[in-house]
Parts: sequence; C-alpha cells; structure tokens
Amino acid sequence: MYNIHITGGRRLCGSTSIHGAKNSVLPILAATVLAEGTSVIKGCPRLNDVDCSLKILEALGCKTKREGDTVTVDASTVAKSTISDALMHKMRSSITFLGAVTARCGEAKMSFPGGCELGPRPIDLHIKALRQIGICVKETCGTVSAKLGDFRGGRVHLDFPSVGATENLMMAAVRCRGETILTNAAKEPEICDLQNFLNKMGAKICGAGTDEIRIIGVPRLSGAMHRVIPDRIVAATYLCAGAITGGDILLRSVEASHIEAVLAALKDAGAVLAVNHDTVRLTASMRPRPINLLRTMPYPGFPTDAQALLTALLSVADGTSVIEETIFENRFKHCSALCRMGADITTRGSLAIIRGVPALSGAKVEACELRGGAALVLAGLRAEGETIVSGTSHIDRGYDTFLEDMQSLGAQIRRIE
Ligand code: EPZ
Repeated sequence: MYNIHITGGRRLCGSTSIHGAKNSVLPILAATVLAEGTSVIKGCPRLNDVDCSLKILEALGCKTKREGDTVTVDASTVAKSTISDALMHKMRSSITFLGAVTARCGEAKMSFPGGCELGPRPIDLHIKALRQIGICVKETCGTVSAKLGDFRGGRVHLDFPSVGATENLMMAAVRCRGETILTNAAKEPEICDLQNFLNKMGAKICGAGTDEIRIIGVPRLSGAMHRVIPDRIVAATYLCAGAITGGDILLRSVEASHIEAVLAALKDAGAVLAVNHDTVRLTASMRPRPINLLRTMPYPGFPTDAQALLTALLSVADGTSVIEETIFENRFKHCSALCRMGADITTRGSLAIIRGVPALSGAKVEACELRGGAALVLAGLRAEGETIVSGTSHIDRGYDTFLEDMQSLGAQIRRIE
C-alpha cells in the first residue's frame, strides 16, 4: 500500500474534469442483476468499491468486462443468490444487492455490509421496507436471508430518508405485483440516476428526486445502456482544494445543480464562483471567512460527505465556525489528525467548533475513512512543509484520479511506497 506525500503551500490553478459518481454506479451495478440480458454502464470510475461490485456480480454468475470507463454486465444467468462475507464486508453499498438479488432469484443470503466506520450503520430501514412488500427477511448473527413471500406492492414509509434503503426498495419493487408507493424517500441525485437506469431496463418508476416514489411492478427487465452522473462529492472535494489553497480552478463535467448547498457554503466562506453549463470556476483568497453554523442534512441540504472537506477549509478561516453533523454518529475522526497539523478544533457530540488558524503545518497523518482521508489531503495542500497521508486504501474507495488531477492543478503531490 502506498502513502501520499504532499509539499504544501502552492495555489491550485488550472482546470480538470470530474469522473462518474461512485454512489450512483454502485447501486446501478447492483441493479444490472435484475436484467435478463446485458447492460453497458459508461462513465464508470476505477474505484476499489466498483471492483468489489464486479466481483459480487461474477460470484452471482454474471459475466463482467471493463473497457476504459465502460463496464459491461451480462446477467442472463444468475446462478447464485448468496454473497460471501468477504465481499460483503468490503463496502456498505453491497447491501443494495439484497433487493435486486431477491427480486431476480426469489431469495438472497448475505452478511451485514462493511464500509466506512461512521457509526453503527444499521440496516433496519432496509429490512422494514422490504418486509412491507412481502419479502420475508431473517437476520441471525449478522447474516441476512430473504425470500419472496406474498410479494406485492404496497405503501412503504421510511422513518428516515435513507439513501440505501430507498435504493434497495426500488430495486425490489420493480418486480413485484402492483404499485408500490414509497414515502419519505431519499432525494439524492443518485436516486434519480438509478430510476433513469431502471426505467431504461423496462421498469415503471416515477417521483425520484421527490419524497414520494411510485413503482409499478413489471414481469421482466432487460439490459440497458447508461452513463452515470458526475460525482458531486469529488466535485466538492476539488472545489475545496481550490479554496483552501487560495487558488483559481475550473472544473469541467460538473452538474452544478447537484452541489447547490456546497456552492452556497463555499460562497459563505468567501469563494467567488462562476457556474456555466457543465463547468464551475472557483477563485479564493488565502483566508476563508468563517461560517457561523453549517449543518449536514439529507439532500438537498448540505451533504454529510462534504462535511470533512469544509472542516479542513474552515480550519484556516479568519474566525470561528461551527459544523453540526446530523446524519452519522461518528464522522469527526479527521479532526484529531487536522489538529496534529495545527488546526484548533473541538468536537462535542454532533458539533465541531473550528477556531480558524492562519497556517497549518505538515505532519504524518492517517486516513480513517474515505472523505476524512480526502480532507487530510486538502489540509496537506495548504500546510507549510511536508505532509504524509497513510491509510490511502480508504481514499482509493471513492477517488479515481485524485492525485493526477491535483498534480494537473499544480499541487506537489505524489505516491510513495
Ligand atoms: C449513502 O450511504 C452513501 N453511500 C454515503 O456515502 C452517504 O454518506 C450517505 O448515503 C448519506 O448521504 C453510498 O451511496 C454507497 P443512509 P447509506 O442509509 O445509504 C442511518 C461516501 O463517503 N440508517 O442514507 O449507508 C445511518 O446509520 C459514503 O461516499 C439507519 O439507521 O446512508 C445513517 O445515520 C459514506 N438504518 C443515516 O441513516 C438504516 O437501515 C443515513 O444513512 C439505514 C440507515
């Protein structure tokens, strides 16, 4: 495994583009199981989590092929309905195979998923939703087994707009008799992308992007071709990289409407932004302004996945900011590493109080989760001196060309074995 070595203090300038969205391509790859045929997914980033999804598809009996950023999945024959613990534990998104495999095969068996340690991350909402359309789900010692019972549409209400539970329910309900109405659904752009892909396969879904999604079951689905949306959190990461270095950057292939809350926060922090079709330009001074209170919320609110990125940026603001993390119980792990670099952050429960400092200093730090790891890279880009970030396998789960893109913007950043 490699480490990331950064020599900080350089303003980022120039332009780069944004790859396809991890959190869109993962449920879409799970959805390919539903097709009695071949699907072609374009704009598929090279990520460890994508590799894991392809291994799960192959373990189920599908044939997969990657050519550049295009992945082909032939799900004509799905021979198995069980997913090994080793594969399930690699990422959180593996749980979205539960709905798709059960709908295709009539049953499924898998362990609880893995993924970033952001808190307990239960799957009770997934299980409750699937049971409400007649899927019998049993949980015993960390294993989930599901099979079709009186599999018919119905009204399903989510106690919390869980992204994964919304996706799991959608992928199961596309095959059940009658109409399913899902209320308090997650509204993230990735839900809309999944709906668009499923409808190309022959599903009948509407309402994604709102809190009520309607699904009319169909007897079969066929393969489809689809290009995934740009990764809004990678875009947020790169914008924060420009902001924390007082740079001037232009991002291409960005869906600005997917990051309105992030753009608003960056403006509050003093960045100047210009949005034009599928590009966003950011120019910033060396000292961001503080933000009195930034609260993470379900979409379209400020995304929890960008919380660590703004924490890093606000650590060098010319005043005190407060961030409230309302989605996950334990998503401030990056703060201790930022403090090692000279940041002045106090965390209390769901709050992080960030007293801005004029400078950070390079240090050896370790990434503990995906977006927190990205935040440490951002801090290293700003810090005086050398920063070495270890735990990079976390970062590789969600960023395809992070170092290359930062280098193209002028950063002194490289891999060291
Ligand atoms: C998705 O995770 C994303 N992952 C996460 O991105 C993202 O942070 C999260 O949505 C919120 O936007 C993927 O799409 C692969 P949730 P997911 O179900 O589906 C609780 C990244 O960095 N909950 O919306 O797991 C849960 O514990 C990752 O790319 C239950 O209590 O998120 C959390 O507190 C990190 N019971 C909250 O809901 C359940 O059954 C939100 O979870 C499910 C969730």
